[in-house]
Amino acid sequence: MQNSWESLKQVEEAAKLCRDCKLCETRTNVVFSRGNSQAKLMIIGEGPGQKEDETGLPFVGKAGQLLDKILEAGQICKDEEVYICNVVKCRPPQNRVPTQDEADACRKYLLAQIDFLKPKLILLAGSTAVQHILKVKDPISRIRGKWFNYSSGAKVMPIFHPSYLLRNESREPGSPKWHMWQDIKEVRKTLSSLDA
Ligand code: URA
Repeated sequence: MQNSWESLKQVEEAAKLCRDCKLCETRTNVVFSRGNSQAKLMIIGEGPGQKEDETGLPFVGKAGQLLDKILEAGQICKDEEVYICNVVKCRPPQNRVPTQDEADACRKYLLAQIDFLKPKLILLAGSTAVQHILKVKDPISRIRGKWFNYSSGAKVMPIFHPSYLLRNESREPGSPKWHMWQDIKEVRKTLSSLDA
């Protein structure tokens, strides 16, 4: 992969001025990333919600707070070990799923983020991220927790989107929350093995 920017900062500046799809007309802020731009682990979600649009930071609403709790429980440091972003950088009205055109218009920023960060591991939170990165339509319940090889060289794992977990409270073995816990333990183990 090659992009025409010289740094991640330049990519962010370009994204902040972007008017390549109609989401720019309704956004308050462009939501580029949070976390460590040197991290080995990248998490990609779908797109900003209301809180993210207001603050300019990804995953800061209810789903994001749950994501932070899950990372903390798995002893993954959200500020140092993770870089978080989304398929689209501007909020789709009413939090609808981004259209193919919107995701395509935003793809250059996401690919440049992957290109500069060179994460070793990428987690795809929910089916939108899976469809736009892995280009498969399999249900998350079938492919979550498995590692796939991405063209950048990263290992990629689909996981449940935290907002799906907010709607499924059970922690019983076999429940989405239980599966998420298994997946996070696997991610922690793999992340630690990179340093070994
Ligand atoms: N959901 C997402 O997919 N991304 C966010 O940034 C917030 C909620």
